[in-house]
Parts: sequence; structure tokens; C-alpha cells
Amino acid sequence: MKPYMAVFYSRSAEETIAWAKDYAKTLKPGDTVLLIGGMGAGKTMVAKGIAAGMGITDEVTSPTYAYVNEYGGRLFHFDCYRVESEAQAYGLGLCDYFDRGGVCLVEWSENIKGLLPADAKKIAISGEGEGVREIVF
Ligand SMILES: Nc1ncnc2c1ncn2[C@@H]1O[C@H](COP(=O)(O)OP(=O)(O)O)[C@@H](O)[C@H]1O
Ligand SMILES: [Mg+2]
Repeated sequence: MKPYMAVFYSRSAEETIAWAKDYAKTLKPGDTVLLIGGMGAGKTMVAKGIAAGMGITDEVTSPTYAYVNEYGGRLFHFDCYRVESEAQAYGLGLCDYFDRGGVCLVEWSENIKGLLPADAKKIAISGEGEGVREIVF
């Protein structure tokens, strides 16, 4: 784990996306980032910004039904909200994505705790509705 945490206060979805675009510069291929926060916190907004920062021009939408959306082998965006157990996730082959050399972004990683890479980074977002978000990273 890195020895410090930083905080960014975002006042809008646009500011969150712009922050995430910049944060993407700190990522290397193979990195996993856990996007932590409740429903509507802004996890998918962060994913959109990271994709933009990586030069990915496809629209990034929540992969709720597919579990994982893949962007050219460079970015894998997980939404584990509907994952019922680690055994199910394992059976679906979700762990395989962590070894494919792309950046992995994981929403609702709580549901696949035992399958996550030990060195995963974290972005924790607090807040909801319209307004300020506290982003700890
Ligand atoms: N500061 C902010 N940062 C991110 N999203 C915000 C912010 N303020 C309001 N929002 C709104 O909150 C919602 C976040 O949605 P989303 O990123 O899909 O959440 P999650 O993936 O965490 O469930 C969007 O409708 C967005 O417009
Ligand atoms: Mg989401």
C-alpha cells in the first residue's frame, strides 16, 4: 500500500471526470483500482474519466448486466453488484481479467474480496445526489 492518502473534493460529475482523467496518468498496465462507494456515489463517473485519460474514446457505461466491459484489452471495468458469491465470480472467470495486463476498475469489489489482487489501489467516494463528493485515493 502506498504510504499516504490524498483527498479531492469534487462539486460536479464533470469535476469528478476531470479529476479521474488526471488520476489515470498514475496508472500502469496491469493495475487494479477498487472503486468504493454507495449507489450513485460516482464510481462509474470515475471509470469514464479514467477511460478518457487512457485515450479510450468508446462510451463507458455501467457493466451491470455483463459484469465486465472490456475496452480494447487495455481497460476492464467490473460491476460486481449482482455477484452472489466468490464461487460464482470464480466460475464466471472474473479473476482471469486481473492477469490480462490491462487496467482493471472494480465497482462493488466487496463482493469478490477474496479474488482481488493484493496490491489493488483504492478510490473511495463519499456523497450522493447532486453535490460535493469526497474522493480519497
Ligand atoms: N461531484 C460529483 N461526482 C460524481 N457524480 C456526481 C457528482 N455530483 C452529482 N453526481 C451525479 O451522481 C451520479 C453518479 O452516478 P454513477 O457514477 O453512475 O454512480 P455509481 O457508479 O457510484 O453508482 C450521476 O448521476 C452524477 O451526475
Ligand atoms: Mg456504477
